[in-house]
Amino acid sequence: MLAIQFDEQTQTFHLSNDEISYLLGIEEGEVLSHLYYGKKIAQYHGNFRYPRIDRSFSPNLPGSKNRSFSLDTVLQEYPGFGGGDFRTPAHQIRQSDGTIVTDFKVKEHQIFSGKPSLEGLPATYVQDSEEAQTLLVILEDRFRGLELELSYTIFCDSPVIARNTRLINKGTEKVVVEKLASLAIDFPDTPFELIHLNGTWAKERMVTREALQPGIKILDSKRGSSSHQQNPFVCLASPTMTEETGEVYGFCLVYSGSHETMIEKDPYNQTRLTMGINSFDFRWVLEPNEAFQSPEVLMSFSDKGLNALSHSYHDLLNEHLVRGRFKKQERPVLINNWEATYFNFDEDKLLAIVDEAEKMGIELFVLDDGWFGKRESDRTSLGDWYENSGKIKMGLANLSKEIHARGLKFGIWFEPEMISEDSELYRAHPDWALQIPGRGMSLGRDQYVLDFSREEVRAHIYQQMKTFFDEVPVDYVKWDMNRNMTEVYSKKRAPEEQGSTAHRYMLGLYEFMENLIAEYPTILFESCSGGGGRFDAGMLYYMPQTWTSDNTDAIARLKIQYGTSLVYPVSTMGSHVSAIPNHQTSRKTSLAIRGNVAMAGVFGYELDLSTLSTEEKVEMKAQVAFYKEHRSLIQYGRFVRLLSPFEGNETAWMFISDDKKEALVFYYRVLAEASHPPKCLKLEGLAKEKVYMMENQLFGGDELMNLGFYIDPSLSGDYATQLFYLKENN
Ligand code: GLA
Repeated sequence: MLAIQFDEQTQTFHLSNDEISYLLGIEEGEVLSHLYYGKKIAQYHGNFRYPRIDRSFSPNLPGSKNRSFSLDTVLQEYPGFGGGDFRTPAHQIRQSDGTIVTDFKVKEHQIFSGKPSLEGLPATYVQDSEEAQTLLVILEDRFRGLELELSYTIFCDSPVIARNTRLINKGTEKVVVEKLASLAIDFPDTPFELIHLNGTWAKERMVTREALQPGIKILDSKRGSSSHQQNPFVCLASPTMTEETGEVYGFCLVYSGSHETMIEKDPYNQTRLTMGINSFDFRWVLEPNEAFQSPEVLMSFSDKGLNALSHSYHDLLNEHLVRGRFKKQERPVLINNWEATYFNFDEDKLLAIVDEAEKMGIELFVLDDGWFGKRESDRTSLGDWYENSGKIKMGLANLSKEIHARGLKFGIWFEPEMISEDSELYRAHPDWALQIPGRGMSLGRDQYVLDFSREEVRAHIYQQMKTFFDEVPVDYVKWDMNRNMTEVYSKKRAPEEQGSTAHRYMLGLYEFMENLIAEYPTILFESCSGGGGRFDAGMLYYMPQTWTSDNTDAIARLKIQYGTSLVYPVSTMGSHVSAIPNHQTSRKTSLAIRGNVAMAGVFGYELDLSTLSTEEKVEMKAQVAFYKEHRSLIQYGRFVRLLSPFEGNETAWMFISDDKKEALVFYYRVLAEASHPPKCLKLEGLAKEKVYMMENQLFGGDELMNLGFYIDPSLSGDYATQLFYLKENN
């Protein structure tokens, strides 16, 4: 039962569905306090209130002589600074008197069905207003005429609350927004561990779990993108939480630019978390009658461990974030030429790969980097999005037709946000790259970042892409972004507005992508940033797949895909089999394990199919057939992590159909071990009363979950793997 209720008597809001409850209260001074977030409670009787204590050095409300109420300690919903709370504030709004002190009080509230969209920003949506309810609490700083709209949407079918914040300047003077977090939340006396996803290029989303200590922990990106280094997703977990048991709270920011999560544990063991656009170097001038909208954060809660938390995110992102005709659609098996040829290709080479792909049943050919301008290396031509004439003798339009004639779809690579110094575009518009007048410009991969905050820059790139799509039939686009922002400054803006440039870039990018997907709804877009450098829920609103990592080594991918799966669904994770020795790690692994790892994602190949042995081709053809047969189960079934690569030598995960009639289990062992203990693998999520056939043997669902089954003891050698298919026996 979905409900948002306001109780006049206790002055509390109660948001609840079948799984969760979230309670806010209005305290003295119209302060909006936080009361509870977690497992559903049927009814709140109003007696769980923050204790009134007179604490030394804790200031009291302005004009109040009540020494037992202080913003210094009370749990709050959207705290400011300077009125007695010395913890991390949710907002910093610089005013004409030079201070950031505010005094926001509850003014009014609205409760309604459905979920409003966020202007200019990606966000979850509902198709039917009965799928969610929204609470808007409006806070007011009367002194300055500022209003804050705190938005809370609770979904009926998942333990998720989406939050965002909007600041409206109803005063007469401009203010400068230096921080406007999407949310803040205070937890009472709870020991937490922090789980987050950090990494670097080719090593994205490594799972880190650490005890939360007193003080402030900042997890952020200042790179102008969500980044390889720190994904905008964190969890606060009970120290005893496992994949299957215990309480955990997740926070997923729907944003692709610089972000910041601050977690502060105070002396009373209270934990505050704020999350949103990075406040470091952020300045947004807000004139009277203007509003500033924060991105959205998706909060989820599970009392059944981390797997259940991931399930709620997988369902939410598949159902309420991904849009368009590829939503819940099976994604094609692709062959990408990047690791096969790099820049060194011609039409014969590409068609030789396509011919083999056709025989194997592959469905989509993707022509990666190198087809445009004078692009023969990564030093040139970004910004010149017209065909590198002569490289493909028949021309790209004919190549696309040839590929279509063979029954495959045709995809192509773009890097629209970038500009090479050596390009026609740079020679014509050197000022279109982000740069500070008079200062040197830092190259990255020999390229600069285009100033996508500028309309004319976006319009020019858009027009080039449109001209290309009008000439060449394209079914898929890989949208890449291969460096981070430096010398962030936009020529068109005043110095006091430069702190808004990185965010205005994101708004420009979102607008560009919105227009593009609306104009080309039949193109499947996959986003990429040197692999998974911008794998976030913001990008998934426009592009339903992401290239998970440039690291295609099967063993490295175990950790990368495991970490990614904490929040992002399998349907979004591009995952390819590549050649050995692997190009990133030089490791040699069997085709079987490369297949078994890549098949746990949106499957594809990235190697020269025309130089393979007959045995390899036979094995790959079988992999493609197997994947297609089970694709819907893999891409949209329930994904369950069983053994973690972060905890040992073995990894296992499984996929279960919604009706629990079938399942696939993947097991991987990294290094061989003499006298290996018999491995008993216990499954999860099956129907305990069903009987399953697995490898010609019958097992009860309860047997597989409670007793488990033994991995083949003869499995030997490094990088070993086994795959099991279970089907209900009728
Ligand atoms: C990035 C991508 C790769 C490939 C290259 C091409 O690194 O992640 O997959 O497309 O660019 O330059």
